[in-house]
Formats: sequence, structure tokens, C-alpha cells
Amino acid sequence: MYAMTIPRFGPPEVLTTVELPVPEPGPGQVRIRVAAAGALPIDARVRRGELPLPGTFALPLVPGNEFAGTVDAVGPDTGGPEPGTEVLGFGTFGAYAEYVVVPADQVVPKPAAMPWEVAGGFSAQAQGAHMALSAVGVGPGDNSAAGGLGTVAVQLARAWGAAVVLGSAGERNHDHVRELGAVPVLYGEGMVERVRALAPQGVDAALDSFDDDSLRQAVEIVGDPRRVVSMVSHGTARELGLPKPAGPRSAARLAEMVDLYERGLVRVHLRRTVPLRDAALAHRDLDTGHGRGKIVLTL
Ligand SMILES: NC(=O)c1ccc[n+]([C@@H]2O[C@H](COP(=O)([O-])OP(=O)(O)OC[C@H]3O[C@@H](n4cnc5c(N)ncnc54)[C@H](OP(=O)(O)O)[C@@H]3O)[C@@H](O)[C@H]2O)c1
Repeated sequence: MYAMTIPRFGPPEVLTTVELPVPEPGPGQVRIRVAAAGALPIDARVRRGELPLPGTFALPLVPGNEFAGTVDAVGPDTGGPEPGTEVLGFGTFGAYAEYVVVPADQVVPKPAAMPWEVAGGFSAQAQGAHMALSAVGVGPGDNSAAGGLGTVAVQLARAWGAAVVLGSAGERNHDHVRELGAVPVLYGEGMVERVRALAPQGVDAALDSFDDDSLRQAVEIVGDPRRVVSMVSHGTARELGLPKPAGPRSAARLAEMVDLYERGLVRVHLRRTVPLRDAALAHRDLDTGHGRGKIVLTL
């Protein structure tokens, strides 16, 4: 099969096309013929060598933690899903490829009306937003601030009943934040004062997914560290006594987010679709650190 690998840490151009054996599913696993896979900021961080590789993973590495495709083979002692089932799911690396093997409980059925590109780029931010907002208990009556993962997080906060949602973004994405049902606020220096002017009654909960400084701003805005969660600055979050995102990723969590999508409560904005062979283009875009919505690789 054809796949993209990271043979060594470096710029987007290190991504290399390779031929690999088609992986065989073991007990409890399924093999998916991939139609689309999300290109995630974490893939770019792995490529740049910024994160320690977990467990026995080593270079060369096929990146990619989310995908959509068709079940193509089922391992021994695996209840389902049946070959031919269209699914979306998540894994740890391996999705930048024609085939990926994952535990059968890491996929859920793809709604027929969900486009492949949306399905391929759905799992990570949907589950990330769910884990983050679960940790701070966003619900009816809350006024919340969300940045970074915003496209999904602000919609989820609204779906869970938050009264007013503020979304931090650069100027050029304020219209996008408004379309998602949130009130835009410019990030960076002075954000605390800008939020206070927009929400003089206070903000109940916040999700930060940018850096240590924006996380500290979020804590200052909310006042109560137990209602602030970070998806990025784990060391600072520990130091400040913040709750951890309510992991782990699961089929149940993903299915709940797919249900919200089907009910029209969570939409996915596609920033760009790129053929897998051109994954370096997607990574150049990721490396800018700006943009609205998802970048998805297609096969
Ligand atoms: N642990 C998890 O499960 C999990 C899940 C999903 C994501 N994450 C992490 O969360 C982070 C964000 O993910 P993403 O998918 O939303 O990334 P993304 O699509 O690349 O978006 C980056 C965001 O950062 C914003 N930004 C840029 N400069 C900023 C600043 N100075 N202050 C505040 N915000 C700024 C951008 O806004 P503008 O474009 O408007 O400038 C953009 O919305 C990544 O590090 C990712 O790895 C973690």
C-alpha cells in the first residue's frame, strides 16, 4: 500500500511517499481502506520533533490519528463491524495511508449523508472539544470563552446549553466565529479587558488551546481554575490546579458527536482538502498556526 512517512524530524518537505505491506488486523481489530484522514496540528508537532513519541513508536513513522473509510477486513474474534461498513474513527498514528488497522471499538458508523472529507477530519477536534468541555462542565446558563479548537468547541458549548459563548480569534476569523453562534473576541494582549467589556457579568468556564500565556489569561477571566481547561499547556495546567480534559477518546464519545452533527448542532468547516501525496502542502498550512476549520487529506 501507499503511505506518507516521517523519516526524520524536520520541515514539511521531509514527508515522503513509501510503499508498505498492507497491515493485517489481529484479534479485536479491523482494517479500514482509508478515504480521508485529518491533518492535525499534533501531526505537525510530531513531524517537527516537538513531542516525545509514545511507547515503542519510532521513526520512520506514518502519522495520522483520525480517518474515515470502509471496513475491508476483520481480525479473528472481532464481533464487527462487517466488511463493507463505512466508518470514521481514531487511532494512534498510521492514518496517512491507504489502509489503517485499529481496535474495532475505535470506529463508529459513518452517516450516509456525512461527506468523506468531513468524516475523515471529524474525530480529533470533536472528541477534543467534548473531553475539554466535559472537564469544566459547560452547561445551561454558562457564559464561556473558547479559542483554538473553537470551530467545534463553540458549537458544542451552545449545544450543551451555554447561554453566551465567546470565541477568541484573529480579526479575519471574526465573521467565522459569529457564524458559529459565538461572540468573537480578539486574542493576545488586552484580551482579559476585552472579554470583561463583552461579558461584564463574568465568564463561567473557558477552554484554552493555544499557549501558557493565553491559558493564564483564561484563568484570570474565569477566576476559578476548576472551570478552565487546556488542551495544550499541560505543565502550566497542572501548576495552576486545572482539571484534566475528561479523556480518553472513545467510540461512545465519537458517536455522541456524530449524533450532534446529524442533528445539525455541530458543523465542520473544511479549510482545505489536499491529496495525501501532497501532505507537505497541508503541513505548510498547519505550520502557520492560523486558519479556520479542518485540513483533510484525501485518497
Ligand atoms: N489533546 C487533544 O485531544 C487535542 C485535540 C485537538 C486539538 N488539540 C490541540 O489544540 C491546539 C489547537 O488545535 P486546532 O485543531 O484548533 O488548531 P488549528 O486548526 O491550527 O487552529 C489554531 C488556532 O489558534 C489560533 N491562534 C493563533 N494565534 C493565537 C494567539 N496568539 N492566541 C490565541 N489563539 C491563537 C488560531 O486563530 P486565528 O486563525 O484566528 O489566528 C486558530 O484558531 C493544537 O495544539 C492541538 O494539538 C489537542
